[in-house]
Amino acid sequence: MKENNFSELLKNIDSKSARIGIIGLGYVGLPLAMELCNAGFFVDGYDVSEKKVGILSLGNSDVDDVPADDVRKNIDKGTFLPSTDSKILADDDVVIVCVPTPLSHFKEPDMSFIESAVERIAENAHGGMLVLLESTTYPGTTAELVAPKIADTGLKIGEDVFIAFSPERVDPGNPQYHTGNTPKVVGGITSKCTQLASALYLTFLDKVIPVSSAAAAEMVKLLENTFRSVNIALVNEMAMICERLGLNIWEIIGAASTKPFGFMPFYPGPGVGGHCIPIDPHYLEWKLKSLNFYAHFIELAGEVNYRMPSYVIEGIVKHLNDNGKHLKGSSALVLGVAYKPNISDVRESPALEVMRLLVDWGADVIYNDPYIPVLRWNDDEIQSAELSDELLHSVDIVVLTTNHKDYDYQWIYDNTELIYDTRNAFAGIDDKNGKIARLGAVNK
Ligand SMILES: NC(=O)c1ccc[n+]([C@@H]2O[C@H](COP(=O)([O-])OP(=O)(O)OC[C@H]3O[C@@H](n4cnc5c(N)ncnc54)[C@H](O)[C@@H]3O)[C@@H](O)[C@H]2O)c1
Repeated sequence: MKENNFSELLKNIDSKSARIGIIGLGYVGLPLAMELCNAGFFVDGYDVSEKKVGILSLGNSDVDDVPADDVRKNIDKGTFLPSTDSKILADDDVVIVCVPTPLSHFKEPDMSFIESAVERIAENAHGGMLVLLESTTYPGTTAELVAPKIADTGLKIGEDVFIAFSPERVDPGNPQYHTGNTPKVVGGITSKCTQLASALYLTFLDKVIPVSSAAAAEMVKLLENTFRSVNIALVNEMAMICERLGLNIWEIIGAASTKPFGFMPFYPGPGVGGHCIPIDPHYLEWKLKSLNFYAHFIELAGEVNYRMPSYVIEGIVKHLNDNGKHLKGSSALVLGVAYKPNISDVRESPALEVMRLLVDWGADVIYNDPYIPVLRWNDDEIQSAELSDELLHSVDIVVLTTNHKDYDYQWIYDNTELIYDTRNAFAGIDDKNGKIARLGAVNK
């Protein structure tokens, strides 16, 4: 009977007759739901947000990389069922958790979303169920937090139910790599758990990399994101170093990138944003503190990256000063508030901190972002200013924080008095009037 749980489930996964439940239909859960629907599975989507479920049920999408057509097609075919009722999970053979893992006010892991999702799974768990965690978290979560709650139902892990971790690696806005063509790492509580998880992902992915445990899979994700955080911090510090040496970091990175091995370019900017890089390494750091180990690189990288918005303000103050102005009372137009180009996600965006500091320093601040027409700002909502010759002429300085492809940089240059560029977005422009100050370069 117990062996049947495994073999039946494997058979149903391979034949795509297994019914899938996804908990959390955000930037990770919704693309995954669409991949699975498009691969031929029936997908139940459970989300606590009525607004989100309402949008999806009408065949619309609120995630940049997921076209509404895709959602509509699967809603119309009846292969995708979004719901706020967790009881739908009872019919599912596979349940995948994609809920947020933010930091608390004191920069500690906030596990409440995972805990609540796992409670809903435990209420609906049954023999022959595969539970997968995709939310980024500290090593040990799947074995120490998820598995015991499911085991409390009396079901035996590795025999009745199967549990594994597989980190999500989606890179929003990346035109080349998406959920469907990015290799997936999986690590289960037992080898059968790993086997079932691998089988599921292989139904819609080319490559799955099994690792020895769920904790190993959790650690893979944290290594990847700590690697990015540390390298971004390093290049941010190099940008400051270049300014002191009278060099241009952008030229240096361009030349260093010609080395065909042993160098990978990272670029400076006003800080780090999104739901991953500023947060995930601190999950690891927190876990290590409980083992009396202090993760120096993580802490240092966090410190350098968090300080970048203040460094940008110093550059703006200097640029205004060099042109006979001061920041207090100046008007600043911030271009691009998403945390990275060509997407509409503002979570942890350093542009918001730049805006906050500009206001703190007494500047009048407006913003433009073609992807974010309305921004929640200090418990209020503000609107993206429409770009026009008049608007550009009316401000003292333009601060480029996110280099969206939609901007016409030559036109902005031609109509603006001063520019502070944190992304080298104005690189191709002949700055004969000395309007531009650039992060990581000395203004001539
Ligand atoms: N966004 C990314 O680029 C990215 C990339 C890789 C990994 N991740 C990780 O994936 C996880 C999810 O991130 P995201 O960006 O998709 O988050 P998100 O905020 O876009 O989506 C999460 C969804 O979960 C829902 N939710 C919250 N609590 C719930 C609960 N208890 N039950 C059901 N639904 C619930 C929310 O309403 C929301 O719709 C996080 O751990 C994140 O670190 C994100």
